[in-house]
Amino acid sequence: MADAALVDWATLETDGLAGLHAADDEPALRAWNTRFFGDKGLVKAAMGGIAKVPKESRAAFGQEANRVKVALETEYAARLDSAREAALVAGLTADPLDVTLPGRPRPRGVLHPATQILRQIYAICADMGFQVYRSREVESDEFNFELLNMPEHHPARDMWDTFFTETPGQILRTHTSPGQIHVMREMAPNPVRVILPGMCYRNEAISTRSEIQFLQVEGLVIGEGVTMADLKGTLTAFARRMFGPDRQVRIRSSYFPFTEPSIEVDIDWPKEDPNRDRLTKGTGWLEILGAGMVHPTVLRNGGYDPDKVTGFAFGMGPQRMLMLKAAIDDIRLFWGNDVRFLAQF
Ligand code: DAH
Repeated sequence: MADAALVDWATLETDGLAGLHAADDEPALRAWNTRFFGDKGLVKAAMGGIAKVPKESRAAFGQEANRVKVALETEYAARLDSAREAALVAGLTADPLDVTLPGRPRPRGVLHPATQILRQIYAICADMGFQVYRSREVESDEFNFELLNMPEHHPARDMWDTFFTETPGQILRTHTSPGQIHVMREMAPNPVRVILPGMCYRNEAISTRSEIQFLQVEGLVIGEGVTMADLKGTLTAFARRMFGPDRQVRIRSSYFPFTEPSIEVDIDWPKEDPNRDRLTKGTGWLEILGAGMVHPTVLRNGGYDPDKVTGFAFGMGPQRMLMLKAAIDDIRLFWGNDVRFLAQF
């Protein structure tokens, strides 16, 4: 190209495109790029020719130069893309690893159903202003019975088959109620609104309906002017959050040594449930918990003046609640540690 005026952009374009189409991998394309667009490349050299182009042809020369440059650059970029993709596909097919296979799932743990139902109870009670209070599982006979208005030889003690330890007077708590005394002694004379969750133990035959170890959640509210209506309202609200907004609550009179009066609370079981008759023994009602107004003796044992304050208490079985909600028919499944059962929650 001695004579710049003779620079033939059309030929440069044809040669360039032919070179691009001959280059079929990335190194070849890069070499082409150096040859055409490098510092000492053909395009630059051709551009140098503009100095010798007559003034009136310079604009046309420039336009043509530009057109060819853009055409070559565009084709270069496209060729580079497809060369890279081809290399990737070649690499993948050469490799026995099939990246399109779905990943192997890792087994994921779930919260134990007992933990789940407990958390649900905490959430409902927290919304009603209850705090969680924990107390000991190894209890004294004094707290488990005596201070709850059951002196030695009191016949009501028969309601709780007890595990004794080798230390006289030390037993495994048969219910969460002794926690009431611990809370009261810590809080008196201030008002109380707590739930006490935890494990209880009973020396009973194990069956589908009873375990020697099970959870309870106790509730305790103490303050001036606390009434049975507060108890009823609290339990109704609880039952509806737990079992559905349409649930009806029925209260029956009952007996516990630590409450006076004592009640048992039933809910109506949904008519749609095919197990309704079996669960409710044909009555349509199902007991969910025991409760009552805290006995004056118990208040006094906790350090409160029963002439100044009143209180209510309740005790429920979270596992039993989950059994009702999830149609579980054997309480032994809870601590059986069969993952096939646990994984369903
Ligand atoms: N402690 C009782 C039980 O284990 C349940 C209970 C009933 C707790 C009435 C209460 C209550 O606080 O007021 O059978």
